[in-house]
Parts: sequence; C-alpha cells; structure tokens
Amino acid sequence: MNGTPQGAVRELMDFLDSCPTAHWAVRRVADRLGDAGFVPLDEGAPWRVSPGQRFLVTRGASVIAGIAGTGHVAEHGFRIVGAHTDFPGFRVKPEPEIVREGITLLSAEIYGGPILHTWFDRDLSFAGTLVLENAGRLERKLFLFREPLCRISSAALHLDREVNSKGFLPNPEEHTPLMLSTSGKGIEHLLTSACGSVGADVGALRGWSIEVWDPQPASLCGLTGDFLCSGRIDNLAMCHAAMESLLAGSGDPGPETRLVALFDNEEVGSATRHGAASPFLQTVMERLAGGREETFRSLAPSIQVSVDGAHAVHPNYSGKHDQGSRPALNGGPVLKMNGSEKYTSSDVTAAYFRACAMEAHVRVQHYVSRNDIPCGSTIGPVTAARIGILSVDAGNPMLSMHSVREMAGASDHAGMIAILDVHLRGKVPIPV
Ligand code: CO
Repeated sequence: MNGTPQGAVRELMDFLDSCPTAHWAVRRVADRLGDAGFVPLDEGAPWRVSPGQRFLVTRGASVIAGIAGTGHVAEHGFRIVGAHTDFPGFRVKPEPEIVREGITLLSAEIYGGPILHTWFDRDLSFAGTLVLENAGRLERKLFLFREPLCRISSAALHLDREVNSKGFLPNPEEHTPLMLSTSGKGIEHLLTSACGSVGADVGALRGWSIEVWDPQPASLCGLTGDFLCSGRIDNLAMCHAAMESLLAGSGDPGPETRLVALFDNEEVGSATRHGAASPFLQTVMERLAGGREETFRSLAPSIQVSVDGAHAVHPNYSGKHDQGSRPALNGGPVLKMNGSEKYTSSDVTAAYFRACAMEAHVRVQHYVSRNDIPCGSTIGPVTAARIGILSVDAGNPMLSMHSVREMAGASDHAGMIAILDVHLRGKVPIPV
C-alpha cells in the first residue's frame, strides 16, 4: 500500500468503486489477499495451518483472513479486526415486474435502513449474484453493471408543494419501484443481460439476487479535496482499512495469530449463517487453536478492534452531538463509547486503542451519543458477547451515514490503517 494519506484514500476509492455488493467486497478482498499469498481454506476440508501461514476463509458474503502466529495460540491469543461488508439499499423482489402508465418498473425490498430520499433522482444500476446450473451442479456467479439502468424519480415540486416545508415522506412500497423502460423490456431482459455478462446462458439460471447500487465513482470533493464522497463508505472503508493493515504486516508474522473478520448482514441484525452472530469466527478460532481447551485459554490473551463508521460532528446539525465529544472530519479515527454497551469500548480497551494510536503517531477523537439521541450499534458487541473476548469499538468520522452517497474525511483513512497495523502486530500488550 502507498503509505501517504493521499495514496491510502486513492486505493480506498478504487475499492469502493469495485464493490457494489457485499459479495463483491468479499471477492475483491479474496483477490487482493490471494495475490499477496493468502491461501483459501475450505471449511469442509481438514486444515493444516503452519506457523506464519497466511490464509482466508469465506462463508457467503463474509470473509475471515489471517496470519497464523509463530507462537502457541493458547499463550499468545488472537488480535482481531472486525468490520461489516454490507450496507443499506434495495433488493429486487422475486416477482418484481410492474407496468404502470406505460413504464416498466421493478419492485424492490428495502435492506437495512437507507436514507430513502437520497435514492431518488439518481442514475442507478444493478449488481448481484446468479445461481447457474452447470453439469448438474449449482454454482454462484457475481455480475455487475455500471451503466445507469434504472431510476426512482421524485414527484415534481408542483405536485408535492409541501416537500420543503413538511418534509419528503415517500411511501416505501408505493413510491420506490425502479423505472426500467418504456420499451416494455423488464426483468427477463435484465436477467438475460446479467447471464450474458458472465458468459452464461439464461437457460441455466436457477436463482438470483439483484441489488440496486449507485455506480457514480467515489470522488475527492471540496475546494481543497478534503472530502471523500462515495456510496458504501459505511462500512467498506473499514473493510479496506482492515485488509490493508493485515497486508502491511504480512511479511513480519509474530507470535500472535492475526485475524480480520468481515461480516455480512450487520445492517439487518447479524443473526444469519455467516453474520457476526453466527459461529463463523468462533469455529475458525477453534480450528486454528487446535481444540477446545486451547481455544478457551486463547481468549484471555486476545482482543478485538471492531471498526465501523463514526458520526462526525455536522456543521449544519451541530446540536445533534454531545457537548464535549465532537469528532471532526480529518481529525483522526474515533473511539466510540456507550454507557449502555452498544459499543464494546471499556476503560481498559479504550486505553488499549489509544496506546495503539500513540504507537502509530495518530490522533484519536471520541464519540458518545446524547442522552436524548441514542446511538446505533455495530458488530463489536455481537462478536464480543458470543466469543467472550476483550473488544473496543472505533471508526473513522463520516457524515450522511446510510445515504446513497456518504462523506468522510480524505486524510483519516491512513491513520486508521496505521492503528490497526500496530494492533494486529501485537505491539501493545493486552490490558489486564
Ligand atoms: Co456500519
């Protein structure tokens, strides 16, 4: 990785542009790590992982990558970075086609909690998965279109006069179908094109998942390029930071076992086969440790840094923030604290994160919510509660979280990579 702030954010922009869905994010991570010598492990095969070996395991749209420690796992434990691969949006329904007023539309289900109005009046496209039958077996292929193929139009101001005074109040079912064509071409045409794009015949199609995405490339915006604007910053930015931090130290394995765990389905509660509430991470840890007793012993010397987007203070909505903790864009990574344990940071694990940041020469900010505006949550508490390890929650400051086009500081990304690199290399002792 290019170690400058500009180099780090440029690489992040390429990653954001190449990941329209969580499945694509896992594919890009697997490709990048595969090029760097990380060997895919099959969950259904026996594992023989040697000290210092680089590996990755995928399950659905989740991936766990790591570097086996050169020391005994029970004694040196795990240094884990956790993040999530999914983001809010729209998924095309199973029998989606509607024809209204001469326009062919597709009805789509809402996934997670998007800011709905931001999806209106944008040039949108499709990406997803195709399940194809090949010699009697079903296999999943990923497809991706960048051309603007659909749109959700808003009503004219003249037909919705109170939109600016009373607010934009779309009905999530009636007002969100995607406009495809006036030619009558609809879902069949789309599926045929998707199959063609992966070199398959639509006759072999047995299943699919089609997501809507905004193909506008990421940009550095603002008078002096201070703002990173893109879709999917929450939480592909932290997936990218986690991956880059693992790569940064990959030529220098240590006694600790390093893991980067990127989970799907955080936006819908994590309770899926491969989400953070699944046994995925636990089983990978147990197989690496070599047995139950070793696994249980390994938990004491282990710690997770869970990274997810953090709310920067908004200059136009500054009253939404705590009086004291006001994380600024380009002010450095943010430690997230919550008295009701929606974040895992504690006295000792916050001190651990600050020590990692000090070692990396990076400034840290703090986020805590107001008592009258509760915060969201993330994967940190889910994995920490499931596995029973120390954990801390952090993330880079951002605005417009869950908008189709979010915004972050252009210079914060390199700092987060540097902190996670210190953490994964085990440079800071586990707090007692
Ligand atoms: Co998030």
